[in-house]
Amino acid sequence: MTSVARAGAPGRRLGVLISGRGSNLQSIIDAVAEGRLDAEIAVVMSNRPAAFGLERARAAGIPTAVLEHRAWPSRDAYDEALAQALQAQRVDYVCLAGFMRLIGPALLNAFPDRILNIHPSLLPAFPGVDAQAQAVAHGVRVSGATVHLVDAGLDSGPIVAQRAVPVSPTDTADTLSARILDAEHRLYPEALATILAGGWRIEGRRLILPPTAARPDVV
Ligand code: GAR
Repeated sequence: MTSVARAGAPGRRLGVLISGRGSNLQSIIDAVAEGRLDAEIAVVMSNRPAAFGLERARAAGIPTAVLEHRAWPSRDAYDEALAQALQAQRVDYVCLAGFMRLIGPALLNAFPDRILNIHPSLLPAFPGVDAQAQAVAHGVRVSGATVHLVDAGLDSGPIVAQRAVPVSPTDTADTLSARILDAEHRLYPEALATILAGGWRIEGRRLILPPTAARPDVV
């Protein structure tokens, strides 16, 4: 693949997209409140009105919006609506935090290399849904969490940070999910801080951090 270098941008306004519980959203809210993450959460958006994460956002005084995907005639139209709503809030980076929708070109093009996702495995292992159950079924000894930039593929964009989590022989998908989630909550704010610090570039499919950058990965 041709090597393309693109610099990080300085904006610090985050738009967080959720579909459910929102515990990763909470970890970002807490990191901002505690001064571990120099950012502002401009808006929290959900495709599901009952997502508990919306209550977390309201409790923190963060504006919320519900855009139910079923209300739009196509994926493209929905992604266009999301992009416009995020741009209206002058969002610099979009954080997917348990947002269970594939991201299409309309949103990707509105925020090129500005959309992050957290995934409960060590990518490229176990992309897609039920990553923790996939790991248990496969019998791996180590799994973990990955924060990556979102591209047009399924959980395939450049990796920002990863954290390894051991898998025990007695683990179920639920027990492993809980252990990985604990790692996610530490990893996502740290990976965000690394991206917001800027100075990174993308070469091929690799995200190259400046030599002085904080490295959130703990193996
Ligand atoms: C997290 O485990 C996140 O990694 C996963 O959904 C959960 C959301 O929890 N995301 C994916 O599987 C995306 N493919 P949360 O709503 O409590 O943050």
